[in-house]
Amino acid sequence: MTQEHTAEHWLGRSVKRKEDDRFLQGKGNYVDDINLPGMLHMSILRSPVAHARIISIDTSAAEALPGVVAVVTGELLAQHNLAWMPTLSGDTQAVLATDKVRMQGQEVACVIAEDPYVAHDALELIEVDYDPLPVVVTPQQSLEPGAPVIRDDKEDKHDNRVYHWEAGDAEATARAFEQADRVVSFDTFYPRCHPAPMETCGCVADVNPVTGKATIYMTSQAPHVHRTVFALVAGLPEHNIQIISPDIGGGFGNKVPVYPGYVVATAASLLIGRPVKWIEDRTGNLISTGFARDFYMKGQLALDNDGKMLGLRVNMLSDQGYAYADAQPSKLRAGLFHIVTGSYDIPAAHVVTDGAYTNKAPGGVAYRCSFRVTEASFFIERLVQTAAYELGIDPVELRRRNFIKPEQFPYTSATGFVYDSGNYEQAMDKALEMLGYEDLKAEQARAREEGKLLGIGLASFTEVVGAGPSKDYDILGLKMFDSAELRVHPTGKAILKIGVQTQGQGHETTFAQIVANELGIPPQDILVQHGDTDNTPYGLGTYASRSTPTAGAATAMVSRKLREKARQLAAHLLEVAPEDLEWVGDRFQVRGAPDRQTTIQEAAFAAYTNHPQGMEAGLEGVTYYDPPNMTYPFGTYAVAVEVDRGTGQWKVRRVVAVDDCGVRINPMIVEGQIMGGLTEGFAMAAMELITFDELGNCIGSNFSDYLIPTSWETPKFELGETVTPSPHHPIGAKGVGESATVGSPAAFVNAVVDALAHAGVRELEMPIGPDKVWKALAEAGLAE
Ligand code: CDP
Repeated sequence: MTQEHTAEHWLGRSVKRKEDDRFLQGKGNYVDDINLPGMLHMSILRSPVAHARIISIDTSAAEALPGVVAVVTGELLAQHNLAWMPTLSGDTQAVLATDKVRMQGQEVACVIAEDPYVAHDALELIEVDYDPLPVVVTPQQSLEPGAPVIRDDKEDKHDNRVYHWEAGDAEATARAFEQADRVVSFDTFYPRCHPAPMETCGCVADVNPVTGKATIYMTSQAPHVHRTVFALVAGLPEHNIQIISPDIGGGFGNKVPVYPGYVVATAASLLIGRPVKWIEDRTGNLISTGFARDFYMKGQLALDNDGKMLGLRVNMLSDQGYAYADAQPSKLRAGLFHIVTGSYDIPAAHVVTDGAYTNKAPGGVAYRCSFRVTEASFFIERLVQTAAYELGIDPVELRRRNFIKPEQFPYTSATGFVYDSGNYEQAMDKALEMLGYEDLKAEQARAREEGKLLGIGLASFTEVVGAGPSKDYDILGLKMFDSAELRVHPTGKAILKIGVQTQGQGHETTFAQIVANELGIPPQDILVQHGDTDNTPYGLGTYASRSTPTAGAATAMVSRKLREKARQLAAHLLEVAPEDLEWVGDRFQVRGAPDRQTTIQEAAFAAYTNHPQGMEAGLEGVTYYDPPNMTYPFGTYAVAVEVDRGTGQWKVRRVVAVDDCGVRINPMIVEGQIMGGLTEGFAMAAMELITFDELGNCIGSNFSDYLIPTSWETPKFELGETVTPSPHHPIGAKGVGESATVGSPAAFVNAVVDALAHAGVRELEMPIGPDKVWKALAEAGLAE
């Protein structure tokens, strides 16, 4: 009798991270670990002022310092047509300043020296004469008539507006507001913060003087895109540029833009004929690279007396810094902010978005979110809570009455997104059950009677990730598909090469699990490679939780392609017709005679040793996957806080996070992603802030001023899940990398506001320090 064969399942298993072997032993290979023979070191001189004309730059003393090989200025770059470069949003940004500096920290000159310390010391010997200009630090100032025109380098630019962009239906929304019983307004600001990855940006540029080949080791979340940009900027032939992103110590959106340091180091290596290393310092990273948020939002929600949402109007204004440099899909210049209707069935919406130049660092990057979705999710979840107070309906009940229902999917939102699947009520109910919502509400009422302040905050977020369908999404015209190339070797071991680029998310493990699930080759027999443009198929990189929805899907599809070839090989070996074979997870069995079988390893061996005449040898393939839609992960986060009436301190008592990212490949990795995101959400709500004084001096240029949380402040998280697969993703997965950063800030703020809401408090601007809470307590007559 034949024993029934059961293959191992590889989805939904917390396989230990393969990459941790090297990380835990301190054997990672980061850009700063790359040391090449004859390598020089580069340091950047940054502007101390935010807006000024450059009168002169004297580099002679720096050039005379022993060990200095060259000093590069904008003037030198201009001779090679390299003083300005294109940004990923189709704008331009200075590589090194020529006419003016337009932000504090702008790159003015670079020293190339034999030793990093000499390069750094020489910066102090460069004399720059600045003629200060009036400084613009807010987008409101920037759009006032008569404001200094920041980008006067562009002949046709006479104001500071970067974009004006609308979505939805203004007329239908106006009608909805006419019919409304109630209109609730909300006005908020999402302050500037910074992704602050543990590893700052850097590169080692190595242009071979003989072959002209440029090998650039670079902290890049999108190596292929960066190679194309380099080819366009420098006029180097693309096949002669190889970008290698080795291990990356966190990106969070910060390593998507192209930075001047990469370009100057490459140009210097080309001109000098030796490798050049540039490693950014912490202050350089915080003041000059892609920041996040800095977003003003105001809007109104129209409702009937039962709390049914009828229409939504939102205006937002974004501070883009002095260049529009985040990687927005070119069709949606304000990013995906238009998903601002969130998890709710709102029949009419109209969104107006404006962006403005200021004398600040460019960016507004997707800091652990799809382009501007964090801001949108924050806004709608804060607005819904405000509406609940104004209408006297419990925030849970108001959400329940307005959620898009499971049977409405695929659901087309009023701003044109087609949500793939969801069950919002189920996720909320699970979070409420885990939190013990009803008991906590009763405790809150008792606490108030005793003069104590307990707050409960919810956020039922909807995310949109996996850019994207190429008909809708591109960056600089490069369509946002992604890729996977799989090669199974004669002994049944495989190498998978992907177009996305991990920065710590565990792709080497989860992508191997996808192949294992499709082909039955165990993950330990699959090597996952990425981040080398010569040796991986073209892809748009990793940000905005796009890896699993795009390259993850490509991985499943290419595995299926190979499985079909393996079927032909198995049929040949077993001398049956391919359609008589049945796939059982890791082998083919003859239908009705299951002990006649060929494993995937045997089929792979045959592909190189015994393939039928007329069939190509080998077992390999490549897939470029163009997703038919984005995926829409969702969830409900619930937070309980206690507020001290004497000090304004707030303490987190509970954080419950229920996430639905469809089918989970590796639950342990998913939970790690969620916990990291919750920590970031808490940090934005509680402590992370970058501000500027009226002269444009950045306050938040080091980790003493810019506070990021340690394990000491970070609350404990309780996680739950529901599973609503994406109907179009080959394995039903949605992205998860950013959900918690997107969803949780509103839950934390809602909780602190809720503690004071009975006294009329509606808004506390992030980050909510005790000073702000104490002021609100005092104004509400609650202070002790
Ligand atoms: O693009 P990025 O890798 O930042 O985000 P992601 O695609 O959401 O994936 C983050 C990590 O979680 C990866 O290792 C994924 O493979 C894993 N993941 C998972 O195991 N199951 C999911 N449903 C989604 C992501």
